[in-house]
Amino acid sequence: MEKDRAQWSSHVSFIIATVGSAVGLGNIWRFPYIMGKNGGAVFLITYLLLIAFICVIPLCCELAIGKLFKTDTVNAFKLINPHFKWFGWLCILTVLLIPCFYFVVGGWILNYIWIFLAHHIPQSFGDYFTSYSAQIFMPCFLTLTFLIMTAIFPYRGVNNGIEKANNIMMPIFALMLIVLAIFAIMQPNAVKGLEFMFKPDFSQFNKSMILTALGQALFTLSIGMGALITYGSYMKKDTNIIKSAYTLIFFDTLIAVLAGVMIFPIVFSFGLEPAAGASLVFISLPEIFSKLPYPSLFGVIFFILLFFAAITSGISIMETSIASFIENFHISRKKSTIIVSIIIAFISIPATLSFGILKDFKILNRTFFDFLDYATSNILLPINTLIICLIAGWCIKSFYKQVTDNIWLQRIFNIVLKFIIPLILIPVLIYGL
Ligand code: TRP
Repeated sequence: MEKDRAQWSSHVSFIIATVGSAVGLGNIWRFPYIMGKNGGAVFLITYLLLIAFICVIPLCCELAIGKLFKTDTVNAFKLINPHFKWFGWLCILTVLLIPCFYFVVGGWILNYIWIFLAHHIPQSFGDYFTSYSAQIFMPCFLTLTFLIMTAIFPYRGVNNGIEKANNIMMPIFALMLIVLAIFAIMQPNAVKGLEFMFKPDFSQFNKSMILTALGQALFTLSIGMGALITYGSYMKKDTNIIKSAYTLIFFDTLIAVLAGVMIFPIVFSFGLEPAAGASLVFISLPEIFSKLPYPSLFGVIFFILLFFAAITSGISIMETSIASFIENFHISRKKSTIIVSIIIAFISIPATLSFGILKDFKILNRTFFDFLDYATSNILLPINTLIICLIAGWCIKSFYKQVTDNIWLQRIFNIVLKFIIPLILIPVLIYGL
């Protein structure tokens, strides 16, 4: 297996692919509204500190495990210790559940691209969104369409599919984001939006914000389910892990902040609520676009941008389970892609319908869609991250040597990984549950 395993064709491709995985709905849809709900600048500071000093450790762990074992998530843990195989499968379970709500949003994005392209702009996006998401046929059809569009790339392979998709979509994405951010800063009340983002009001600080910031940080960096083990396993031998991790963090954060710069000035200029929540992107923003001189132009650019962000992340999510199915069931990449797609299709249909006919079907007081989001982001990702750190720190001999050659960095890494991370993550998890 190992010999003919695919490899990124260059270091730049590897970085673009990991950035493509990290930058997704988490940055553009989730980050602005979570920041809006949690007091703006103070949340941003908490989040930056957590990312730079805490989350970078599990990030390095995943990449290093991938680089060390050069195999999929399940086999990597099996090689560390055969008893850990179940944990690999727990990661795969997580990675199979995330797309089941993620791709529902992907379907909504496709629908919005269509509305703006075809000039079918509704009177009120609030009413429109509620009635559209409650339908049966169209939302399900578009969720499945998004699933198929995503699956095409891993189906075609690492270099021909995944790498190419990222190399083409990510630069276009970045360009569109910059154009929209510049447009946003030119709006009349832009300064208010920027103040909200960058001028901290420390009275807003509270404990539950730390947990929210941590969950968001793990989600946006794609940590906690082996996606980076899988992408790391395709990297070249001489790749520097810490440098790659900080490059990834830099771009992911830059893009999240740019997404904020694109959204908050518009929100404040048009007198909207920054804390509007999940509906910010699907109700408030389109409402504003429809009032601009060229509604279709802005709407189309924004939703295509969102589409690229979502699909490059979706690819990494699917690739993680596809790679594990290939290696563990000894099937071809094509077969594996089809099986994974069918599983996701089955679970994502009830998630799509949970805004309509299934809205009264509740698990733990949540609709099926919300339950999937909650169970994966708030429970499975932090638990998996903790286990990955514990396994890497305590069960792989001299793991720190995999991460860097610098003796001092090795020592710091070792202590943080073995003691500080569990000390932080365990209370956060207990408090969160
Ligand atoms: N990071 C992506 C986002 O911000 C989502 C994502 C892709 C993800 N791969 C992941 C989240 C792996 C957790 C784990 O939208």
